[in-house]
Amino acid sequence: MWQPPERIKHELPPGAWPTAEQAAEARLFQPLVIGPRLARTRTWVPAMVPWRATEDGFVTKDVIDWYARFAHGKPGVIVVEATGIRDVASGPLLRIGHDRFVPGLKELTAAVKAASGGQTLLFIQLIDFLSIRRRPQREKFFARFLEITDSHRAALGNDGGDDELRTRLAALPEAELEEVLTPRELDDLQRGARERVTDLHVPAIAELPRVLPKLFADAAGRAIEAGFDGVELHFAHAYTMASFLSALNTRTDGYGGSREDRVKLPLEVAAAVLERVAGRGAVGCRYLGDDVIEGGNHIADTTWIGVELAKAGLEFLSISKGGKFEDAKQPKVGASSYPYTGRSGYECMPTIYSDARGPFARNVPLAATIRSAVREAGFGTPIITAGGICEFGQAEAILERGEADFVASARQTLADPDWFAKLRQGAGGEIRRCEFTNYCEALDQQHKQVTCKLWDRDGLDAPDVTLASDGKRRLVPPRWR
Ligand SMILES: Cc1cc2nc3c(=O)[nH]c(=O)nc-3n(C[C@H](O)[C@H](O)[C@H](O)COP(=O)(O)O)c2cc1C
Ligand code: SF4
Repeated sequence: MWQPPERIKHELPPGAWPTAEQAAEARLFQPLVIGPRLARTRTWVPAMVPWRATEDGFVTKDVIDWYARFAHGKPGVIVVEATGIRDVASGPLLRIGHDRFVPGLKELTAAVKAASGGQTLLFIQLIDFLSIRRRPQREKFFARFLEITDSHRAALGNDGGDDELRTRLAALPEAELEEVLTPRELDDLQRGARERVTDLHVPAIAELPRVLPKLFADAAGRAIEAGFDGVELHFAHAYTMASFLSALNTRTDGYGGSREDRVKLPLEVAAAVLERVAGRGAVGCRYLGDDVIEGGNHIADTTWIGVELAKAGLEFLSISKGGKFEDAKQPKVGASSYPYTGRSGYECMPTIYSDARGPFARNVPLAATIRSAVREAGFGTPIITAGGICEFGQAEAILERGEADFVASARQTLADPDWFAKLRQGAGGEIRRCEFTNYCEALDQQHKQVTCKLWDRDGLDAPDVTLASDGKRRLVPPRWR
């Protein structure tokens, strides 16, 4: 992963742990309405893909155990991992693109309700993504993938058939290839072909605005049927909807270019989903406060977008940052590009090795600015912030200063799913604190079952411990007390 060149190793913020009485009075543990639902506390576990679904996207016992374990800590809200809205093969990513996925998801919602004693709201994150290929072997790329064009013929002299041209292209040194291939062809060779929302010549991409509102609405309908308390539309990071919102979206069909046109599809998706859910659950989205890439959205765009999303009736806005393909590291041959390896990825999941500002609560100013704009526009839409929040005093101060309405902690909750319960019981000193070195994120990158280095080797031989497929790690942390 990219790291700031300063590489300053930061200390964890000293824990300011409340007594049980102080916690009972704290803002963090007060309720707040989200659309038609009531969250019991302002604590939020944002979506994290743990790679525990079956190869064809079904809920497994491991998925259920994972979320039930989080639910034991009784956070206000848990958002289930990014879940695919289409009925297409997508590896062990959870799916909701067909009714056959509903029974498994029902078991999941029931298990979370039971484990939290009904104290935790369970949302599910709905995602659409475009296709991406692995970085090809050079020979294969020229022999099979590259489409030969007149421009290649002209560059190499227009003699000989395609096969000869392919052989000659494959033999060119890197510097000359840069002259002969288009930037897009070069990118396909160096990183693997990746669809963009601007590929209007591809029929499936051209028709996205026609198909996505219904796909999202159908998925949301299934989520409600399965017993979820709400849905989070994934408008963030490297995926389809964030790419529509981004200033890099130059589509010319009325869904790209100006801010008004870029937000059009997200608003149409929101409207379709709100209509389908019809008050039976909360409907919100996660989107980026800053794309952190050249030519992408920055805070002036994203405050405007936030107001539009609130105006459209979305019932919460969860603000993330970065996580883009555009600045991702070049993958190895045979591997896929991973959108959390560049600077934008760092900003999404900052590590302990940082610049002077450090990784803690680093993204709060984005949420605070968006919240102010949404409030000035007259909307009370709850705003969620995430990024290096791992301690009570820090979370409480964010709420006290009115920078956000919910405080989301992904990695701290992965390190210790009981940390909310420990805070409430005045046992903050017992919290297993995340070290922010991103062992978990490296597992995610390899699509391996995600665990935390602080607990995954503990008590491996205890009865009823389920091990990861490598046989070396437990899949859920031991219970507290
Ligand atoms: C293993 C892992 C998987 C993640 N998967 C998702 C995801 O499915 N959807 C999403 O919006 N964010 C995802 N994230 C990002 C987190 O939700 C969160 O925004 C990020 O980790 C920063 O918060 P933190 O500092 O509290 O960890 C993931 C993070 C991790 C560590
Ligand atoms: S693996 Fe590291 S970064 Fe991830 S939750 Fe555990 S301590 Fe935190």
